Amino acid sequence: GKWGYGVKGLSDMNLKTLPQQFIQPPEERFTEHTLILEESIPVIDISNWNDPKVADIVCDAAEKWGFFQTINHGIPAEILQSVMDATHRFFELPPKEKMKYNKKNSPTTNVFLRTSFVPEIETAMEWHDKLTFLYVSDEEAQSFWPPICRNQVLDYIKPCELLAKRLLGMLMKRLNVTEIDKSKESMLMGSKKVNLNYYPKCPEPELTIGIGRHSDLSTISILPQDVIGGLYVRKLENDSWMYVSPIDGALVINIGDALEIISNGRYRSIEHCVTVNKHHNRISAPFFAGPEPSAIIGPLEEVLESSGEKPLYKKVLYSDYPAHFFTKAHGGKDKIQFA
Ligand code: SIN
Ligand code: FE2
Repeated sequence: GKWGYGVKGLSDMNLKTLPQQFIQPPEERFTEHTLILEESIPVIDISNWNDPKVADIVCDAAEKWGFFQTINHGIPAEILQSVMDATHRFFELPPKEKMKYNKKNSPTTNVFLRTSFVPEIETAMEWHDKLTFLYVSDEEAQSFWPPICRNQVLDYIKPCELLAKRLLGMLMKRLNVTEIDKSKESMLMGSKKVNLNYYPKCPEPELTIGIGRHSDLSTISILPQDVIGGLYVRKLENDSWMYVSPIDGALVINIGDALEIISNGRYRSIEHCVTVNKHHNRISAPFFAGPEPSAIIGPLEEVLESSGEKPLYKKVLYSDYPAHFFTKAHGGKDKIQFA
């Protein structure tokens, strides 16, 4: 279609003005937000991930901010570097090569390239291209994923799974769940997804948005970003936004809607957005752990029993949840069904 060449294709044309389709209404532009510069999300060294003190800091951050950065997280720097390099390589392919992975043409339903978020229904588009990978198996990946980046994405998924498992283990322990059995594991990380995001330089960045404000669907998200910057996180108390400074080698971690629901609101899934830049292309490569699609998620019995709380959220079949998420444009966090 019209956006077959992606936003990267538009950016490469060196346009002087932003195409009208990308002009966001003022309330979705970042220039309208209140920015706090003196405060940001915590940076946590998790090298001693077995230490209860570290677990406490992680759980506190998940309760208070829903977001934190980690250093000494255990994912080798070379693996992060090579998935970031592979992202550049993919998006720098000739348009014809990339278009093979558009939803309509892709050799598998588990890999698809899109411009913006849900271009079919949005009235204003977002200034990003995104290649999504739903992980099924190494065999499926070897057969169908784009050769230019498949091994790098696969090598990245493995340590992400381990990190997600460690973090979810700490978070669950505070909720009185000491053993992650098979059924809990499929609820917490039964699905795995990676997005390779490309935010090309933009002629009029203040009129558009890279990714509009949203919260993630995941249980937990792991995000390497490059040095350019552009990620902002909502601070709920005073309706303002904090900048997430890129730190070399660090990973941004955030709680998604699924874990907010499972934890009965104890851990918070916080809105975030990404601005774009006049002079630099930016990339990021988030990994998302989420419930298995057939899982029914709701506040855990363990949490309700130990706290005496009433369930604050309705139970939902997880496969129904993204269906709702992807049928509207970004514009805040309003997917969660409260009880
Ligand atoms: C996202 O929220 O999915 C992407 C965040 C980023 O690119 O920093
Ligand atoms: Fe996100």
